Amino acid sequence: MVEAVEMFPAAALLTTVLLALSASATPLVTIRDSPISLPFARKTNFTGSVNLLKADQARAKALRARAEAKASGLALNVDAVINEPVDNQAVTYIASVNVGSPPTNFQLLIDTGSSNTWVGATTRYTQTSTSTRTSNSVSVTYGSGSFSGTEFIDRVDIGNGLVIPNQSIGVASRSTGFDGVDGILGIGPVDLTQGTLSPATNTLIPTVTDNLFSQGTITQNLLGISYNPTTVLDTVNGEITWGGTDSSKFTGSIGFAPITTTFPASEFWGINQSIRYGASTSILSSTAGIVDTGTTLVLIASDALSRYRSATGAVNDANTGLLRITAAQFANLQSLFFTVNGVSYELTANAQIWPRALNTAIGGNANSIYLIVGDLGSTTGSGLDFINGYTFLERFYSVFDTTNRRVGFATTANTHSTVN
Ligand SMILES: *[C@@H]1O[C@H](CO)[C@@H](O)[C@H](O)[C@H]1NC(C)=O
Ligand SMILES: *[C@@H]1O[C@H](CO)[C@@H](O)[C@H](O)[C@H]1NC(C)=O
Ligand SMILES: *[C@@H]1O[C@H](CO)[C@@H](O)[C@H](O)[C@H]1NC(C)=O
Repeated sequence: MVEAVEMFPAAALLTTVLLALSASATPLVTIRDSPISLPFARKTNFTGSVNLLKADQARAKALRARAEAKASGLALNVDAVINEPVDNQAVTYIASVNVGSPPTNFQLLIDTGSSNTWVGATTRYTQTSTSTRTSNSVSVTYGSGSFSGTEFIDRVDIGNGLVIPNQSIGVASRSTGFDGVDGILGIGPVDLTQGTLSPATNTLIPTVTDNLFSQGTITQNLLGISYNPTTVLDTVNGEITWGGTDSSKFTGSIGFAPITTTFPASEFWGINQSIRYGASTSILSSTAGIVDTGTTLVLIASDALSRYRSATGAVNDANTGLLRITAAQFANLQSLFFTVNGVSYELTANAQIWPRALNTAIGGNANSIYLIVGDLGSTTGSGLDFINGYTFLERFYSVFDTTNRRVGFATTANTHSTVN
């Protein structure tokens, strides 16, 4: 356990980068509530003893445990289900957020798999004229760590005019697993905040997106997220659009799928999906799983992973935890087709491999070829049989639509690129 520490000179990742908004089609009207796009950074820290697969599996267990605790009304005891010590997430997507007036700048993980926004893991929170302390404590456990602290209401400025005067935030007095970042910008479904406050255990905490919508800053309660593949460790190559989508970031149209009714995927950005390898090898029959920016890999149920391993000829690599293939197997590697609500999304052979330029950073061999499809750690029929993590989202634009309870995907300029 580490206590929150004093001011840490966090890198000014985003402060000098601003993206132009898409041009308005109607120049005579000032559209104050058009979608607003903000850049965000991808940050990599492989200095710890990082095993990507173990980190992702721990997260999957924590997500499932949280949903089950919520459904049963029992207190969450993630420690009981996660025996694997996991420190930091290796790869993170970071937004720069200002809190208070005068503001303190925080670098927050963007997380669609949780819904609390909290600060103070590294840079200390400073109370200002806009800060109001409530009588609640707040705590959340993640696969990669946990935090506990106090609830404050404060002014939160995400940038580009996206200001929430009265946002509930957690201020960490204790956190584990969040070295080098300040906390989380939770953009999952609001129901996931249930049980995180105490004593107000039944109070839901409106997310940043919910508040931007209810106060009229954005006219649709949805987010569009653009990730891009990269072969360098740290880069600003993501964009999140609040209240709409950025058509410059995707090609064709967005295919939507309703949030699945299957528990526990239904508690998250969950969808039904099937996965096929090549022309006709079924990897996963239609089943429920989730879309999650906090997961690195594409995780599929253990039995599905066996089918994928057989189809590709891959072997387990002990150092990285990933599947490994030979150059000859890579030359023969077929696309994976993810079918979601009748639309098929092709994850090419190149998109199925870890960027080779980053092999050594994850404990791998520079000349090896590692696959980004990994074992979820449970068999099909669990109600959460896959996680489309950001290695998938780097190839498809994603839309998280709270109002219509649906998730969307679209192809991008990177869907078929061979960057890896
Ligand atoms: C925010 O809270 C303060 C203090 O409770 C209140 O004066 C103010 O009207 C609130 N602002 C909004 C926009 O709700
Ligand atoms: C990177 O991870 C290591 C080990 O988990 C941690 O001690 C260190 O503080 C992290 N550094 C940054 C800059 O995040
Ligand atoms: C998803 O799959 C489950 C199980 O097959 C099915 O009951 C459900 O109707 C499907 N669709 C949605 C939106 O949940």
